[in-house]
Amino acid sequence: MIESPINEIDIVKAKTSKIEKVDFNNLAFGKTFTDHMFVCDFEDGKWQTPKIIPYQAMTIEPSARVFHYGQAVFEGMKAYKDENDRVFLFRPEDNHRRINKSAARMAIPEFPKDYFFKGLSELLNLDKDWIKPGIGNSLYLRPFVIATEPAISAAPSETYRFMIICSPAKAYYKGKVRVLFAEKFSRSADGGVGFAKAAGNYGAQFYPTSLAQKKGFQQIIWTDASTHEYLEEAGTMNIFFRIGNTLITAPNNDRILDGITRKSVIQLAKDLGIECEVRRVSVKEIRAAAQDGSLKEIFGAGTAAVISPISAFEHAGDVFEIDDIEESYASLFKQGILNIQHNEAEDLHGWRFEI
Ligand code: COI
Repeated sequence: MIESPINEIDIVKAKTSKIEKVDFNNLAFGKTFTDHMFVCDFEDGKWQTPKIIPYQAMTIEPSARVFHYGQAVFEGMKAYKDENDRVFLFRPEDNHRRINKSAARMAIPEFPKDYFFKGLSELLNLDKDWIKPGIGNSLYLRPFVIATEPAISAAPSETYRFMIICSPAKAYYKGKVRVLFAEKFSRSADGGVGFAKAAGNYGAQFYPTSLAQKKGFQQIIWTDASTHEYLEEAGTMNIFFRIGNTLITAPNNDRILDGITRKSVIQLAKDLGIECEVRRVSVKEIRAAAQDGSLKEIFGAGTAAVISPISAFEHAGDVFEIDDIEESYASLFKQGILNIQHNEAEDLHGWRFEI
């Protein structure tokens, strides 16, 4: 970790707010941005004094390394408000830890913790009116780092920009999600960057996902690159299977994102006495369980997606529908997590962080 003790943040407030123009009941995910953004540049081997300035377009040279080599990492977080206007984050230390893990893998300098937390807190104080109370409302926060050095030799950048932008959000997926199990394309490989929130991990999924969408499936559940026999994650979320009353999810490895919602579900399952197996789960096992009726649920877990039930999967040309079930684990975990996030349930594990 590069130590750079925090100086004051330079703050330039927006002259007027855009908030009046926003229809908070009709928000497309990630298309509306708040009045301010956090910016901190890495130059001369250290992070410089951070700034908060009005959200705006910025000028970057076309030769900036991020455009050529994709040297960029990001995080996904949310801020929540309770009925008393108190603002909370959910396990933000984990986001800080993870962006630095992603950064290290992409040869990007780590971002100091005090800058991260001071930046979030000042930004949320300025833009707190954009966080609406009530379950289902949140402010999605997107911290990210890009390589800004104007140089196109294939080498890590000498300069970077760390930013946080904020976008009011409701559900990521509208309704249930139909998925395809990957048989040809792969998301990540051993020794690769699958565990990191590296920008290219997401861009590389767009083409196969667009082919799946043409067939009526919103998402792909990625399988291991070498055999396509084991189910790993869905790219926008980690995946859980319920067979009988047992929950199963793939273990973390080089290829799978260490999801914060994923590990919260695993802990909540433990708290509730629900058996949760963290182990490899094969396509064969899920097909067999779908056929014999023991596959009760599949759901995704992620910051943006929260808990998203999956209503069908396709594999090798066969489509398996998953019927709705009463008292589903998906709704149990969704409610449990949202209640903690919105300060409506006891926070047994210290996950809530008040701003
Ligand atoms: C998140 O859940 O925060 C993510 O980064 C997923 C993204 C594709 C929206």
